[in-house]
Amino acid sequence: MKIFLDTANLEEIEQGVSWGVLDGVTTNPTLLAKEVERTGKGYREILEEICKVVDGPVSAEVVSTDAEGMFREGLELAEIHENIVVKVPVIPEGLKAIKRLRQQGIAVNATLIFSPSQALLAAKAGAAFVSPFVGRIDDRSGDGMELVSQIVQIFDNYGIGTEIITASVRHPRHVVEAALAGSDIATMPFAVLKKLFEHPLTDLGLKQFLTDWERAKQRIVG
Ligand code: G3P
Repeated sequence: MKIFLDTANLEEIEQGVSWGVLDGVTTNPTLLAKEVERTGKGYREILEEICKVVDGPVSAEVVSTDAEGMFREGLELAEIHENIVVKVPVIPEGLKAIKRLRQQGIAVNATLIFSPSQALLAAKAGAAFVSPFVGRIDDRSGDGMELVSQIVQIFDNYGIGTEIITASVRHPRHVVEAALAGSDIATMPFAVLKKLFEHPLTDLGLKQFLTDWERAKQRIVG
């Protein structure tokens, strides 16, 4: 399963890249606006910097709600870098925009997906990715991961190549469950990525190994 960071924070992305585990980035208007406010840079500059650092898809979302506006914004965003994926909400106008962007050879990430039927329609319209929001479903006492499993099954049934991005990830368990369900990608906040490899038994074990080795006064190199 591919790992994406759900952030527009360049420092977090650089850290993820340095660990060698980052396959892409997703942003949304909330995340980009936060970085614009924090850094004083424009959204375009921020996206350009992210694309320079990450060798993989970088999702950037449209903010219009009519198909023509989404299409025009999508063209503008896609011009920033070849790795930009245009994020479009799965409202009826969004489906029209997905189709038009696809016809222009632009990859689309269909976002704000809360039902399997929305994912199916987005795939039929030509989305390269669909993003079910598992955390927001769980927040309302639903079962976000059940949605991911249903989309996986539907896409498998019909050989649909659209990739599933498990989004709105809140904790490492979501990531593990996404992998078990067969999601192609999980996109997560930096804090969740860090937690994926934290374990007290790893820290305790390492401390013990180093203490024992120190007593033997041996060197592996030099
Ligand atoms: O970027 C889309 C999604 O991952 C947002 O997550 O935590 O705002 O529900 P969240």
